Amino acid sequence: MKKIILTGDRPTGNLHIGHFVGSIANRLKLQEKGGYEKFYIMIADTQALTDNADNVDKVRNNVVQVALDYLAAGIDPSKVNIFIQSQVPELAEMTMYFMNLVTMARLTRNPTVKEETKLRGFNLSVPVGFVCYPISQAADILGFGTTLVPVGEDQLPMIEQTREIAKSFNNTYGNIFDLPKPILPDNKACLRLVGTDGSAKMSKSAGNCIYLKDEPEEIKKKIMNAYTDPNHIKISDPGKVEGNVVFAYLDAFSTEESFKKYLPEYKNLDELKAHYQKGGLGDVKIKLFLNNILQELLEPIRNRRKEYEKNIDGICEMLFKNAEMAREVASETLRKMKEAMGLDYTKFLTKK
Ligand code: TRP
Repeated sequence: MKKIILTGDRPTGNLHIGHFVGSIANRLKLQEKGGYEKFYIMIADTQALTDNADNVDKVRNNVVQVALDYLAAGIDPSKVNIFIQSQVPELAEMTMYFMNLVTMARLTRNPTVKEETKLRGFNLSVPVGFVCYPISQAADILGFGTTLVPVGEDQLPMIEQTREIAKSFNNTYGNIFDLPKPILPDNKACLRLVGTDGSAKMSKSAGNCIYLKDEPEEIKKKIMNAYTDPNHIKISDPGKVEGNVVFAYLDAFSTEESFKKYLPEYKNLDELKAHYQKGGLGDVKIKLFLNNILQELLEPIRNRRKEYEKNIDGICEMLFKNAEMAREVASETLRKMKEAMGLDYTKFLTKK
């Protein structure tokens, strides 16, 4: 099967280290590995508007922020097509046809949509566009013949629903879509990174994120204030590693290399955890260790960002050009869809 990769993010804020381990790290790996036919990263502004209808400025401003975050993280614009969703209107038309293949019951059963609806306190006032965004996400994915979707764990229900829509289209009108597969991080600790306050998710509104663009002092401050084990008061007290944010991040970010470099008195994370659990290891020490690791990861990202920030015009031009290329591909998919559906009114023309 052809290797066509597509993924995306909603531009509602800057990208943070949860995005990095959850999906960006895999994108970088795929980019380096090569051997793909096309690789798209979509900035999902249309999807972001499904719960930000009155906040277009925020979404628009964050489109550029997210583009900067990608480039800073090391996404290479000569290998990957980064484009803006709303600049490919064919996706909206596809969404219309896909809508007829999905039931209300199926839509409202999508666990991610359910969770997000609750989180936003929508109850009965949930916008129709929001409930339907998995259908538009299916168009994002299928519109480019995507076979691989590198995402975080929370997106699995979307890929599942996309596969169902593809199958339903294929069965109803004719086989034109390959079924896309998700690519998740190998390391389980990277699937869902907790916030610095210990709550289940990093989110801008909770103020518990470490952003890719954070300055060194901000990073350190956030780590020094991170939630650990409230009962671990004296250094000699035994400490808990479960639910401890510092260990959750060390699970995701530390390697044997990090130990050699910054904490050679321990061989690996298991040894460090064992010492913490036994007692005699203070929070400051593990926090400074984590700080070293994250500073090393984020420094080159921050520096690259500062370079790219000098050329916002160039980034916008790239995004516009990329959208044109994306449109060509999406229009071809749309043409094939309409052909398969038999939606061709030239058949009625008597003069050919
Ligand atoms: N739903 C994704 C998120 O919230 C963003 C997204 C939109 C996406 N379209 C996509 C992800 C297509 C992967 C593929 O981050």
